[in-house]
Amino acid sequence: MDAAPEFDVVVRRRTDPVDRVAVLELVRADGLPFPAWEPGAHLDLLAGDDLVRQYSLCGDPADAGTWRIAVLREQDGRGGSAWAHEHLVDGAVVRARGPWNHFAMADARAYRFIAGGIGITPLLPMLAVAEASGTPWSLDYCGRSRATMAFLDELARFGDRVRVHASDAGTRMDLGTVAPAPGELVFACGPHGLLDELDARAAAWAPGTLHVERFEAREQGEPVLHESFEVELAASGVTVTVPPDRSILDVIEEETDAFVISSCREGTCGTCETPVLEGEVDHRDSILTPEEQEANDRMMICCSRSACPKLVLDL
Ligand code: FES
Repeated sequence: MDAAPEFDVVVRRRTDPVDRVAVLELVRADGLPFPAWEPGAHLDLLAGDDLVRQYSLCGDPADAGTWRIAVLREQDGRGGSAWAHEHLVDGAVVRARGPWNHFAMADARAYRFIAGGIGITPLLPMLAVAEASGTPWSLDYCGRSRATMAFLDELARFGDRVRVHASDAGTRMDLGTVAPAPGELVFACGPHGLLDELDARAAAWAPGTLHVERFEAREQGEPVLHESFEVELAASGVTVTVPPDRSILDVIEEETDAFVISSCREGTCGTCETPVLEGEVDHRDSILTPEEQEANDRMMICCSRSACPKLVLDL
């Protein structure tokens, strides 16, 4: 994937609408407009070499002067959200990169949006697009309690098109009721339990109906190959050997001059997406749809592996 622009951003305004959620309005430190983006996009915050985190853009795509993100302080996180909560106060400056988008909207006759907790963020700009286009839509917004749901006030204007499911109020969502009509697309983001169940149910829907964005890597089974395999980089002709205990990305970074941009290194952000020229991929990412994986023309080299002795990558 091509490198996205990088710039310093300033926190123009921070609000904490509910406990553990900080909503940040960012502007560029150089005063320039941000690159254009579409609903579903995210940015990387670069808090340090080992502290790169992705956050969905949840503001207005038409406002080129402001990017908005929301950061949930994870209880058992890897440190990125705690860092953000402690450091990203009004006036703070941080390096950012983006936008990326692996969760783009597609045209549909109707949209069903399903959000779990902070998974509401990539969906917020989609609601606005659906609303503006006159396309029928509804949102199921799920959370442990209303007190943890940061955007209830903002969504109130949509009336009964937004259904709120608070587990502590006994209104937990029944995913078994989701039955997309022909031409209706489902966009969902939230914890892996919710998305895994939707994934399972989507097997009975028309192909391409379900679109999900995962913040957590999906559980993966055993790799297809338990032995080393080769990866040829087409641009240089260099071939490397990837042992079972290392990723393609790690080996390429350490043994070649090829430049691959990466971020999450666990198959959730899409930054390391690489075109595949030859060979069969063992897809182990949490981004590509089953149809996209089946196409076998690109892969996330931070986590996916080879299902055959040799892959040729367009690198
Ligand atoms: S670096 Fe995020 S998917 Fe590979």
